[in-house]
Amino acid sequence: MQILQEQISVHAVRTHINSPMQPMLNIAVRAARSAGDLILRSSDNVGRLQIDQKGKNDFASEVDRMAEREIINIIKTAYPEHSILAEESGVHKGNDFIWVIDPLDGTTNFLHGFPQYSVSIALKHKGRIEVGVVYDPLRDELFTAKRGGGAMLNNRRLRVTAQNSMKGALIGTGFPFKTQQHLDAYLGMFRAVTIDAAGIRRAGSAALDLAYLAAGRLDGFWEIGLMEWDMAAGILLVKEAGGVITDFSFNDKYLESGNLIAASPKMHQLLYQLIEPHVTDNLK
Ligand code: IPD
Ligand code: CA
Ligand code: CA
Repeated sequence: MQILQEQISVHAVRTHINSPMQPMLNIAVRAARSAGDLILRSSDNVGRLQIDQKGKNDFASEVDRMAEREIINIIKTAYPEHSILAEESGVHKGNDFIWVIDPLDGTTNFLHGFPQYSVSIALKHKGRIEVGVVYDPLRDELFTAKRGGGAMLNNRRLRVTAQNSMKGALIGTGFPFKTQQHLDAYLGMFRAVTIDAAGIRRAGSAALDLAYLAAGRLDGFWEIGLMEWDMAAGILLVKEAGGVITDFSFNDKYLESGNLIAASPKMHQLLYQLIEPHVTDNLK
């Protein structure tokens, strides 16, 4: 049994390594680690950082911008012709490979010394997410995925949980704190999930939440109003770990709407049933 498991694991690592997307995944990993090191080195100085408010409850520090520059430098050195969509500096137009970058996901946590944040980098080609990396610099946990090649945490293959009931389930979410227009709808969803699940976690980094779902640390996840850079890498991790993702209309327009429900196929069905009655027309 153990030998079989080792063989499966070796096979998983090999499939992960042998693919045309591997060089791009390597660059994403290098960029994520380098940005993560920079974020960690800055974490002792948060009190002295220059912080800008981009919108209500939406902040960016020098560290977000420095980390983003570092990531873009590494990507542009390897692939000067590729396009970039980055949270802090926007669109850098190139060819139809698009790197989607959140240099620091969980800025509010970072600025408070609350130890839960990540770097998120995805590569899209012709509308499909091909590569995804979420890096937690505090725990040195590297989550990687390639389309069709599985999802990994460091060198371990990931799989969503086998949980098949809301009883005992741990569900992740994010609060709609930037705009309150969907707060009532959200609180209805929150109430329904609170009643049925064992617990709800709002950890503060959507990218890491999705990575945790892929790793079986959460049994489901939902959020309203995410941006593409918050979720692109995490979405591939979840799918490659056997999970299902939909928007609130049970379609696949979550990258456009920013509203998503993600879980194993069984848990997705259960979570969707709890959330759907509270979905208003402008969340569809
Ligand atoms: C935020 C985090 C958070 C989510 C917010 C995002 P940021 O990203 O992902 O979990 O609830 O919607 O904006 O601003 O820290 O990069
Ligand atoms: Ca983010
Ligand atoms: Ca960010």
